[in-house]
Amino acid sequence: MTKIRKAVFPVAGLGTRFLPVTKASPKEMLPIVDKPLIQYAVEEAAAAGITEMIFVTGRNKRTIEDHFDKAYELESELASHGKLRLLKEIQSLLPDKLHYSYVRQSEALGLGHAVMCARPLVGDEPFAVVLADDLIDADVPVLRQMVSLYEQHASSVIGVQTVPLDQTNQYGIVKPQSMGVRIHRIADIVEKPAPEVAPSTLGVVGRYIFTPEIFDHLEKVKPGTGGEIQLTDGIAAMLAAHPVLAYEFMGQRYDCGCKLGYMEASVTYALKHPAIAEKFAGFLATLKLDPQVQLPGTMSA
Ligand code: UTP
Repeated sequence: MTKIRKAVFPVAGLGTRFLPVTKASPKEMLPIVDKPLIQYAVEEAAAAGITEMIFVTGRNKRTIEDHFDKAYELESELASHGKLRLLKEIQSLLPDKLHYSYVRQSEALGLGHAVMCARPLVGDEPFAVVLADDLIDADVPVLRQMVSLYEQHASSVIGVQTVPLDQTNQYGIVKPQSMGVRIHRIADIVEKPAPEVAPSTLGVVGRYIFTPEIFDHLEKVKPGTGGEIQLTDGIAAMLAAHPVLAYEFMGQRYDCGCKLGYMEASVTYALKHPAIAEKFAGFLATLKLDPQVQLPGTMSA
């Protein structure tokens, strides 16, 4: 079986749910405490044994390339000031075994189109797709859980989680046939169905492992919801010929593509960050006590 060596990170979206901050800056560079979202995503891929990181970029995404490039001036400054711990941290972003490459999606024509843009760099081998704005806090990195499953079944694997019924119209929703604990064969998949017609409440979250056949199916997809080429439609087209598994991963997912999910992730990660956890918890406690701070539900009439 071919090992999963490559991960595709589509980062060419417009990030409209997070305007105005995403007007000129990529949402994937938003920090959760002290690391940008895209770094968490790359670290998760590396923890799954992946060494080739492929970014599908667009306009305003230069900072992502800079983040994963050598920063000579910064490094020599840190070295000359004896800031060796920080120097080591910066250098650890570029371990010799990881390779970074970039391909441009000149127009944001949808996630399916973004994945297709990576075809020349992926070639004819299985690969992962990671959406950095879905940040998943897990004891075993989710991509590693999914690579193990791929190694057992040699099939495409898609990360899913149960979503509230009234939110099915925000997700790709699968029709599952149970194969065991947390694992289903996908019988059908629909993009953003209304709750009344949703085939289940298992929603697709931004982690995928694909066999290379996905590209042939994506090539044939016509623009769907919102004029975009939907990845969901490519997956749906693949189902008849190739089994695709849905995996209910273990981990807590934060939708950092929207403001609320981003703040939830920031607070959770800050409360776990060794450098600030204790003081930050103390600060949160003061908010509850401070009569000047009106928390929702406690507003006086
Ligand atoms: P989203 O729909 O969450 O991202 O796409 P978006 O379009 O940037 O954000 P909103 O909905 O307008 O707020 C999921 C992922 O797919 C990438 C995005 O960058 C994000 O990581 N994407 C989406 C592309 O790379 N190209 C596209 O054409 C669309």
